[in-house]
Amino acid sequence: MIRVLPDLDALGRAAAELFARQARLAISRRQRFAVALSGGQTPRGLYELLAAPPWRDAIDWQKIHVFWGDERCVPPDDPRSNARMARAALLDHVPVPPDQIHPILCHQNPARSAERYRDLLRDFFGNTPPVFDLILLGLGEDGHTASLFPQAQILHDSTAWTASVYVEAQAMHRVTLMPALINQARLVVFLVSGAAKAAILKAVLSEPADPVRWPAQLIRPGSNELVWLADMAAAAQLDLP
Ligand code: 6PG
Repeated sequence: MIRVLPDLDALGRAAAELFARQARLAISRRQRFAVALSGGQTPRGLYELLAAPPWRDAIDWQKIHVFWGDERCVPPDDPRSNARMARAALLDHVPVPPDQIHPILCHQNPARSAERYRDLLRDFFGNTPPVFDLILLGLGEDGHTASLFPQAQILHDSTAWTASVYVEAQAMHRVTLMPALINQARLVVFLVSGAAKAAILKAVLSEPADPVRWPAQLIRPGSNELVWLADMAAAAQLDLP
């Protein structure tokens, strides 16, 4: 499903509504809400909304378990850290128990960190494929999502839950959730904003499948829910009814 919102603020509000709805549903059914946050800049507005009324007071933060869809392998206080951004915008302002926040600390040994992240997910979810209640994702201008970048070798792995990858263009290692796990989620929400994303959003949604070129096309959560939230600038090239 694609929802087009007037601007980034409206996109953040729509995402906050989905986040709160999914949290209420999960907590009522399973007494917990397992969410994987996205990195990048687009979700910052969402995180700041969730950290303030009315959303802050509408969510039972004690029952929230926070993971990440991916992380840049930089020191935790590095401005590029996804966890650092989420803590500053959201997690430092809501009462999620600290042992329920699971940052991916991968700046010293990315490959080992990806294995540890996999083991953490196995311990949390059990031996069956982890089923997140919500996974938030962004879309890069090159069609990447999480740290699934075009032409990467890891794109051909259809079973791994996590992986580490070296991103040449950014001279940076990253750790990422993999499609085999992302596609198990009950709800996957892409947040896409800005005119710079218009061409890639059209390609990912309209062009024939070419997931090595556009890895975001690997995200197809089966019978579960996939929602694209885009602002008008990002949706400008879509042929919508
Ligand atoms: C990251 C993200 C990445 C991001 C896209 C979009 O760590 O960078 O996981 O996949 O979501 O690059 O980023 P923006 O929201 O900043 O455009």
